[in-house]
Amino acid sequence: MISRRGFFETVIAVVAGVVGLGLSIPLAGYSIWPALKKRETGWVDLGPIEQLKSGEPKQLEFLATQMDGWLKTSITQWVWAVRHSDEEITVYSPICTHLGCGYHWDPGEGQFACPCHGSIFSIDGKVLAGPAPRPLDTLPVKIENGRLFITYEQFKSGTKEKVAI
Ligand code: FES
Repeated sequence: MISRRGFFETVIAVVAGVVGLGLSIPLAGYSIWPALKKRETGWVDLGPIEQLKSGEPKQLEFLATQMDGWLKTSITQWVWAVRHSDEEITVYSPICTHLGCGYHWDPGEGQFACPCHGSIFSIDGKVLAGPAPRPLDTLPVKIENGRLFITYEQFKSGTKEKVAI
């Protein structure tokens, strides 16, 4: 037979457990949810399109601010922009699609070259040589009031398909 004291101790323990559980579930969701969300980025202003000459890729830098869970970071980032005509501009991620090195434009050869394993890309981003499994990754672009905007994204390296991370 349970004593009166034992009965009240059990009731208090059960009530404390229910209250604790009720508080911990929303608290855990509040803490974990931002880390599970995909990184959010918005449109980034890269400046006037007049800075780009047709057929001459240009490296454009910008300050990228990213929310990664609760962590807000700002880093200097760059992309490669290619102007094809007055209103047609392609912007490439600066990361080689092979294993993620930074590549550069070789004006003498008229192609993009990655120093790490020798991948070569045409001005249109197509793979001309080397182990890169897919063309250069293009980024979303829009032109407003003569200014170039992009959404900066990152993609998995080493895969045949373009997969956002
Ligand atoms: Fe560019 Fe390997 S990382 S060729």
